[in-house]
Amino acid sequence: MAGSSFGNILRLTTWGESHGPKVGCVLDGFPAGMELSEEDIQVYLDKRRPGQSSLTTQRRESDLVHIYSGVFEGKTTGTPISLVIDNTDQHSKDYSDLADCFRPGHADFGYYTKYGIRDYRGGGRASARETACRVAAGAVAEKFLKELGITFSFYTAAIGEVVLDPKAYDPSLLYATPTNFPDKKADADATALIEACKARKDSVGGMVRGVISGVPAGIGDPTYLRLDACLASAMMSINASKAVGIGDGVFAGMRYGSQNNDAFYTDEDGVIRTRTNHAGGILGGITDGSDIVISTTFKPTPSIASPQETVMTDGTPKALSIHGRHDPCVVPRAVVVCETMCALVLLDAMLLNMTARAENVKNFYLHRDSTI
Ligand SMILES: Cc1cc2nc3c(=O)[nH]c(=O)nc-3n(C[C@H](O)[C@H](O)[C@H](O)COP(=O)(O)O)c2cc1C
Repeated sequence: MAGSSFGNILRLTTWGESHGPKVGCVLDGFPAGMELSEEDIQVYLDKRRPGQSSLTTQRRESDLVHIYSGVFEGKTTGTPISLVIDNTDQHSKDYSDLADCFRPGHADFGYYTKYGIRDYRGGGRASARETACRVAAGAVAEKFLKELGITFSFYTAAIGEVVLDPKAYDPSLLYATPTNFPDKKADADATALIEACKARKDSVGGMVRGVISGVPAGIGDPTYLRLDACLASAMMSINASKAVGIGDGVFAGMRYGSQNNDAFYTDEDGVIRTRTNHAGGILGGITDGSDIVISTTFKPTPSIASPQETVMTDGTPKALSIHGRHDPCVVPRAVVVCETMCALVLLDAMLLNMTARAENVKNFYLHRDSTI
């Protein structure tokens, strides 16, 4: 299977299936010398972990991460960082009904058509269980970015018709409500909506928004490695994502240039800034020093218990009701996946930027400690 790796200097490869014994990843290209412990990574995995409320799948995984390589005496060594997480709570029998048919809205049909064989238990490689590895690796990247003064605020912006009112945004509630809405009222409304969905054997979609602050101007590339293109690609690689917007996103298509352009000015410290941020912090594929603002839309969970029309692998019709444990809405658990994927993309772009100017290379080689 191609396509299990991404990144340029910082390169992540993930492996494992939903109902295999373990999932894991190798993060290569990470600089030596950063302090790193399993606890640093666990904090992030705990934000994605299933079974923590009635709003998520009742699969109960402890998602404990083990560092197998790349760290010595508490510091990264510059060698591949290998992270492994056990799968401990699979109910493979729940999937026996699905062995010979295609779930509407899920990956089964495409997977079977391509490979002619599929691990139907939990979706195999197409399961969002794989995103645990992204979160583990992204936690490492985000720790480094935080040391550079870059901060991340990711949250649920919409679930069904419940949409976050920007005036109600409360940063003290980030990752503090079951829905991950940073607003108590939106959280209560969305909780009621998800519970009602579950009761009628249905699911619901929504949107994750992320704001990355403190990113210096000048990060990214003008063509195929545009930072917005890399971020969008990373978001679209997350299961169930259907759309990505940078800054005002699709709304930019309904505006005039005079409304959409962000005017430049020089602040009291002599720093060039923009008065507004419709662009979401990226112009020409390169950061402008404003917050990066990124929104990712997720579809409703495909596995639903209400009856659906489908066919068997031999084409005969089948009436399907999916049982087993599923997220009635993927959005609350997807928030930290979006955040950590953005961290991986941004750190990769920042490492790539080190060679953008001759003076950077000269400064490094002419002024490094000659005794090393
Ligand atoms: C955090 C997260 C949790 C998910 N949980 C489920 C689930 O419990 N059941 C399910 O059918 N799909 C779930 N999905 C969605 C499927 O993995 C996804 O729809 C499937 O792989 C097909 O890919 P596509 O929707 O991107 O086309 C989840 C996705 C994410 C991001």
